[in-house]
Amino acid sequence: MNVVSRRAFLMGLAATPIALSAGCAAGQSSPAGTSSRPLPIPPLATATTDAAGTRHFTLTAGAGSSEILAGKSTATWGFNGSMLGPTIRARRGESVAFTIDNGLPEATTVHWHGMHVPARFDGGPHQTIEPGARWESAWTVNQPGATLWYHPHPHGSTEKHVYRGLAGLFLVDDEVTDAVDLPKTYGVDDIPLIIQDKRFTADGTLDESDPTDIGLLGDTIVTNGIAGAHLPVSTERVRLRILNGSSGRMYNLGFADDREFHLVASDGGLLAAPVPLTRVRLSPGERAEIVVAVSGSNALLRALPHEDHAGLDRGDAAAFGVQDSFDILELRPSENPTGSPALPASLATIAPLDPTGAAVERSFELQWFMINGAQMDMNRIDFSPTVDTTEVWTVRNVDNWPHNFHVHDVQFQIIDIDGSPPPPALAGWKDTVYTPPGVRFRLALRFTEYTDPTFPYMYHCHLLLHEDQGMMGQFLVLEPGQKPAPMAMDMSHQGHGG
Ligand code: C2O
Ligand code: CU
Ligand code: CU
Repeated sequence: MNVVSRRAFLMGLAATPIALSAGCAAGQSSPAGTSSRPLPIPPLATATTDAAGTRHFTLTAGAGSSEILAGKSTATWGFNGSMLGPTIRARRGESVAFTIDNGLPEATTVHWHGMHVPARFDGGPHQTIEPGARWESAWTVNQPGATLWYHPHPHGSTEKHVYRGLAGLFLVDDEVTDAVDLPKTYGVDDIPLIIQDKRFTADGTLDESDPTDIGLLGDTIVTNGIAGAHLPVSTERVRLRILNGSSGRMYNLGFADDREFHLVASDGGLLAAPVPLTRVRLSPGERAEIVVAVSGSNALLRALPHEDHAGLDRGDAAAFGVQDSFDILELRPSENPTGSPALPASLATIAPLDPTGAAVERSFELQWFMINGAQMDMNRIDFSPTVDTTEVWTVRNVDNWPHNFHVHDVQFQIIDIDGSPPPPALAGWKDTVYTPPGVRFRLALRFTEYTDPTFPYMYHCHLLLHEDQGMMGQFLVLEPGQKPAPMAMDMSHQGHGG
């Protein structure tokens, strides 16, 4: 892998931004045509409860084939099926246990994105599951109700594993999400929506070539595993729990008629109050829960060109697909919709983390495939926060590429963006944030409960190609005075995906 040559390659392209966006020169696709199929709703995972009250789930990663495109069969990977995985649902306070079997021909992992979980159960690159092997993970859910997700995290191959279909949602419920008057019947008026972009060869095979520097940009939008989906809606309003499960594509989501919707939750749970919006931006890995009124006429959810080019130069914006538009999902109202609750004025109390008492400040510069000038080393611990302390991290994208920033184990709060308070949409709990070039983010993070001198948590760019190329680092959470005791990893059998 040669960073400089890839960089030079990009700079060359940027001067002549023609036909770069992965085959979507027209920048359009119309999934909701005559061949439109109803949006598949991932089933809720079943669990068995043992005498101690722990709920046991099983996931098997395996290969299969899926009808992503109507009438065509595509080889894919999935959990407990051929594509994506069941939606896991658990309550705060509940203890959960997972048995994960790897039926794939290569090593993988299962990471609980957004979950506060002991490091050895986090499912990052240190918890490899060899083909045919089993891995067990268990913890007690202890965080606000939220829309989280799970996906593989094998070092160097995450993009490929997710692209082939390995991803699922993990919903956390608590007494606040129970009580809040929002649509909450799963699959009826509370709809999971995993948005991904894919590209196919003529025979329907997933095209895995990655011609851009942000990774694979598809020309076909796939929602919950199929292209061209629509959603029949039987209620006045619907709540969409949206995950950007793409490798590198950033979505500026809105409706074709510019209708207003309300953002009610971000990555880590409910916002303080619904935020009226006509657009919401999601970079890879981020989630948004929105509530939109559908009764009357069709509501067409679209990905629109980013009005601000996502902070990129024009040429780069085109090269990175930021100016493409796609139809994502047509919401079709019924003739006699069931009434929906009126939107509550407030949703949740978000206690601000206090950055004035921060034990440590750290800074992170994002550039090329590096953080602070270094690429991921499985055998290097970058730093070690002390448990029960609040830290302030300054994150700056000093590149001309788009990057984002994701941290394992915690949900953080954005203190300020270039010195100004975050907009309401970014004022709740986050685990992943889009970092446009040149902009400085200050984050407050509090590390609690779990310490481990051996197994680290990751922080990284969630553009999966960048992550695979090493735009990632690792930290241990330690007790005061505890010494790191990392385990030496033999990386000789692991390949980089680039
Ligand atoms: Cu969604 Cu480290 O990952
Ligand atoms: Cu994660
Ligand atoms: Cu990046």
